[in-house]
Amino acid sequence: MRALISDKFIIVVVAIVLVATFAVGMGVVIPKVLANIYPVPEQPFVFPHQTHADVAALDCQFCHRNADQTNAATVPAVEQCVFCHKIITGGDGTITAQVRDAWDTGQPITWARVHRLPDTVRFWHEPHIRVLSDLMSAEQGRDIIPSEVCATCHGDVASVKQVEQVRTLKMADCVECHRAKNAPTDCSTCHY
Ligand code: HEC
Ligand code: HEC
Ligand code: HEC
Ligand code: HEC
Ligand code: HEC
Repeated sequence: MRALISDKFIIVVVAIVLVATFAVGMGVVIPKVLANIYPVPEQPFVFPHQTHADVAALDCQFCHRNADQTNAATVPAVEQCVFCHKIITGGDGTITAQVRDAWDTGQPITWARVHRLPDTVRFWHEPHIRVLSDLMSAEQGRDIIPSEVCATCHGDVASVKQVEQVRTLKMADCVECHRAKNAPTDCSTCHY
């Protein structure tokens, strides 16, 4: 006599339940693990990169002016925001009012650092932008502007609401690229 529900059917159902439980579990666990590797700091408010870099089509260096010149790319001062936000309110206007208030009272916006190397490590943006854009230009047979190089280390910032760290930028990661691109690898290159 055939059972109403076959053993095979039960096995399939159990397998589906197990896989689904595992998938849901990992969906919860993996983002947590990543968040621990690259914690996203709490900001005074979310600065929407996509709105500015993609929708408003601002060049990265419109705000991060020094990336191709010195060590730090620098985060823009409030003045840079007020240039537009004295007129553009956006959303319900609450945040942009906060931006204007900061300017009126001379208070800086205290952005938390997303990327931060230990003090024992030396990093300059300038040689990276210069040499990596030359290499990319040669590879692609066209001129590469500095802002096209940022994604190498920071990912596609223009497509995200809030910038997060996406690359380890640990010693092994730095040294691996230095080897691949004929950049110096002696300890004193990166350590004081
Ligand atoms: C309108 C100004 C503006 C533009 C344009 C802009 N940014 Fe930003 N960027 C900011 C502000 C403000 C912060 C600080 C807030 C934050 O970290 O989310 C920031 C933070 C960052 C950080 C994190 C810095 C840290 O603390 O480690 C990176 C990386 C970055 N931007 C890359 C880019 C790239 C790449 C582009 C172009 C695709 C770009 N930005 C375009 C204003 C801008
Ligand atoms: C070779 C990898 C690399 C490239 C390419 C790169 N960055 Fe960075 N960026 C870093 C690292 C590493 C840090 C952390 C530096 C530290 O803590 O001293 C950083 C920090 C930053 C910061 C926050 C601190 C600061 O320097 O003011 C901003 C903003 C930033 N990058 C923007 C950019 C922009 C814009 C570009 C493209 C024009 C770019 N970066 C290209 C690796 C890179
Ligand atoms: C070149 C002009 C320009 C500059 C400079 C600029 N913004 Fe914006 N910003 C815009 C535009 C355009 C919007 C989208 C407005 C909308 O959605 O109606 C926007 C939207 C925003 C929003 C979303 C508003 C909301 O309530 O959702 C925030 C937050 C913001 N900007 C903050 C800043 C900060 C902080 C700076 C300085 C680091 C800055 N902006 C610099 C043009 C600019
Ligand atoms: C994607 C590849 C890449 C990554 C990732 C990278 N670098 Fe570099 N780095 C380069 C290149 C290319 C140069 C330019 C070498 C030259 O001037 O010929 C350079 C140059 C440097 C210099 C200047 C060396 C000098 O004496 O002129 C320092 C310091 C440096 N890197 C530190 C770091 C650190 C620290 C990290 C990791 C946080 C890092 N780099 C990650 C490719 C990379
Ligand atoms: C291309 C850049 C680069 C080179 C070359 C390099 N380091 Fe590092 N090193 C880093 C970075 C970035 C960190 C911090 C992130 C981490 O812990 O991996 C670091 C961290 C360290 C640390 C952990 C303590 C600390 O400062 O945070 C030690 C120890 C160290 N390096 C030793 C060395 C020695 C020894 C050499 C030469 C054989 C060397 N490094 C070469 C980039 C470099």
